[in-house]
Amino acid sequence: MLLLLLLTNAFVLLPWAGAGRIIGGTKVKAHSRPYMAFLEIKSGSKPSWCGGFLIRPDAVLSAAHCVDMRWRPRVTVILGAHNIRRQEKSQQRIPVVKRVIHPQYSRKDGKNDIVLLKLKKKANITGNVQCISIAKENERVSAGDLCTVSGWGQTSKKEVLSDVLMEVELEVKNEEICEQLSSNFQCQSMICVGDEDSKKATSHGDSGGPLVCNKKAYGIVSHALKKNHFAEVFTRISHFEPWIQKQLKRFSRKAISCFPFSD
Ligand SMILES: *[C@@H]1O[C@H](CO)[C@@H](O)[C@H](O)[C@H]1NC(C)=O
Repeated sequence: MLLLLLLTNAFVLLPWAGAGRIIGGTKVKAHSRPYMAFLEIKSGSKPSWCGGFLIRPDAVLSAAHCVDMRWRPRVTVILGAHNIRRQEKSQQRIPVVKRVIHPQYSRKDGKNDIVLLKLKKKANITGNVQCISIAKENERVSAGDLCTVSGWGQTSKKEVLSDVLMEVELEVKNEEICEQLSSNFQCQSMICVGDEDSKKATSHGDSGGPLVCNKKAYGIVSHALKKNHFAEVFTRISHFEPWIQKQLKRFSRKAISCFPFSD
């Protein structure tokens, strides 16, 4: 019955200006997700916002649809933030000098929705700014795993952004649920996530934010059902891990550590 209802709804990409939203989430303890990045995107006259996450002091991972404008957008990454409307001492604002969108990314069907952003200068690793490990090629989440997504996306229709970082817990779903909803769903490169039982946790974080399971980033917020928040598609990081490592080597041939004082 529920599935039938959902089948009548088209699977659509979140518009990049919408940046996704967390509904029914809870406020995160300040600076407890030090890998979280807030992306300010300027293209033409309209600014937009997305989430992202620090995987190396010079590199932030996000969703390609956040920055796929034809005219290269100006992107600034804000690290170490809790309240995004304030200028907190913990914040580090760093411009992006390069966006590497996956060569097979398709805006139309949301495939390969991943971008690696190179920062103009290395972030200072502090108590409030840290990297998160990403899933290796052979590390996959399974149906039933509980993961969290955080973001500054809107929490209701009235507001554009949440002031402070919010978080929601979501469950990894059987891939068949998303396959039945969309012919564009690809198991190998996408993760099907949702929570049909709890109205409090049926939405998702900002586009580009990480799906964190067991302290590692396994997914990137990509796209969702327009009306039903219960099935959402995340980019499956493990599938792209070799590509990510290759791009990181291009950014810098020298190894860059996420731990201060170790290099
Ligand atoms: C990192 O710290 C140094 C020294 O305090 C400072 O000059 C630099 O601007 C900081 N970098 C960022 C990205 O905030």
